[in-house]
Amino acid sequence: MELPFGGGGGMRRSASHTSLSESDDLDLSRLLNKPRIIVERQRSFDDCSLSDVSYSGGHARGGGFDGMYSPGGGLRSLVGTPASSALHSFEPHPIVGDAWEALRRSLVFFRGQPLGTIAAFDHASEEVLNYDQVFVRDFVPSAMAFLMNGETDIVKNFLLKTLLLQGWEKKVDRFKLGEGAMPASFKVLHDSKKGVDTLHADFGESAIGRVAPVDSGFWWIILLRAYTKCTGDLSLSETPECQKGMRLILSLCLSEGFDTFPTLLCADGCCMIDRRMGVYGYPIEIQSLFFMALRCALLMLKHDAEGKEFVEKIATRLHALSYHMRSYFWLDFQQLNDIYRYKTEEYSHTAVNKFNVIPDSIPDWLFDFMPCQGGFFIGNVSPARMDFRWFALGNMIAILSSLATPEQSMAIMDLIEERWEELIGEMPLKICYPAIENHEWRIVTGCDPKNTRWSYHNGGSWPVLLWLLTAACIKTGRPQIARRAIDLAERRLLKDGWPEYYDGKLGRYVGKQARKFQTWSIAGYLVAKMMLEDPSHLGMISLEEDKAMKPVLKRSASWTN
Ligand code: GLC
Repeated sequence: MELPFGGGGGMRRSASHTSLSESDDLDLSRLLNKPRIIVERQRSFDDCSLSDVSYSGGHARGGGFDGMYSPGGGLRSLVGTPASSALHSFEPHPIVGDAWEALRRSLVFFRGQPLGTIAAFDHASEEVLNYDQVFVRDFVPSAMAFLMNGETDIVKNFLLKTLLLQGWEKKVDRFKLGEGAMPASFKVLHDSKKGVDTLHADFGESAIGRVAPVDSGFWWIILLRAYTKCTGDLSLSETPECQKGMRLILSLCLSEGFDTFPTLLCADGCCMIDRRMGVYGYPIEIQSLFFMALRCALLMLKHDAEGKEFVEKIATRLHALSYHMRSYFWLDFQQLNDIYRYKTEEYSHTAVNKFNVIPDSIPDWLFDFMPCQGGFFIGNVSPARMDFRWFALGNMIAILSSLATPEQSMAIMDLIEERWEELIGEMPLKICYPAIENHEWRIVTGCDPKNTRWSYHNGGSWPVLLWLLTAACIKTGRPQIARRAIDLAERRLLKDGWPEYYDGKLGRYVGKQARKFQTWSIAGYLVAKMMLEDPSHLGMISLEEDKAMKPVLKRSASWTN
């Protein structure tokens, strides 16, 4: 058997994996130990073994993307013939053409240039709310699709324009937000009389519940690296503007305070789950994205007078963060059994139950749910509180960023296989598991009628997550899991009009208030397909393990067997 992270030989190089790759595996220990920072260039993560992946007869792209998109004349219509299909001799699934067409319909232009994609192109829905805006997090799968298809300019435009928005003064009532905050979404306003386009951004000051988009800045950094990795064009990330943008985002989350943990403290609803759902404190989605953004920034920050301080801070934080997450957020059969037997009220450094978790707070469902083989990062850890729910995005990003050790990554995939019905069901993928109901739902969501059990953020199934699942499957050498999930999605997505989410324990019903033609459902599907066809795309969204971040661990059964 080939090791999933070993240096398997079967990997092809593609044009999308050249320039940044050499600096991708930065050795953290060097940064921590040496006063003068020297970036060691190591082997590329192109070496990641994808032995299990069967190639569909494609060949490496030679960089011939010219003409896919002409800046002056708008987009060339490629409906039905996306570049990836044209360049690979495989039969595209019949819905791929429809998906590209729908994705292009969602394009937003600013002064003649494509700038992003709106959240949903659903004219049938009476309530537009803010679904006609370009959301930063929603644009990421669209951006990946365009990058994989050789259309890189739209991504560059997006990165540069959002950077300008970051420079705006942001206020909620009389309170000024941090300088580095990135918008949750923005809108292009067309004044047809004057013939001018202007931008309007929302940093949370208009959002329902006034939630802060903590994830936007992280996604921006992750996307900047994906762009750089894909194009080999270092000139964008090296501009003083991009360097400053990164530093501003980082200074928001690396500042010193009263924290006793290296994880990032957040308010509820600050990420994909952007409503009250009990995801305040240290939610896994933010911690994984934080970790990944730190690693991406480390690859791109210049070690100049201004950057150096950040590089050092990042290295120190990554070290502490990986230890904390791998040790305290990780749950498998053995760890669950340990928590079940915890003593409480322990004081001092010798405490085993550091957070004073009361074993009675372990929910009943978990004892049956936890397989002997498998494990996952739980939703949240803070004093006397462990949120034992499964959250898909945080776990997938943990695999992709290598926050999860190779063993933990395998255990997460084991869990998905073992608990297929619960976590995938009839429509991939549950945003979280299980749903909260009754009294708990009242208390935790504040009686949110949109987040009733097994709907929307409360145990709903979100097709957009398919691209992250697929990436994680490829990285762990288990593409068959992705194939199974994609098969399920293909049966329904087009027929149902690309819904935003599905409801029900098995995800069988189109969501109660789900938008149709939700752009990231469309883009997520396309990216998943393109990655399976050409696994070398994985490098855009994946980072190899940094050996210096190995945790000291005493457990557990499922990690070693
Ligand atoms: C919903 C989702 C959020 C997404 C937005 C636009 O609010 O919860 O994650 O960004 O819709 O699609």
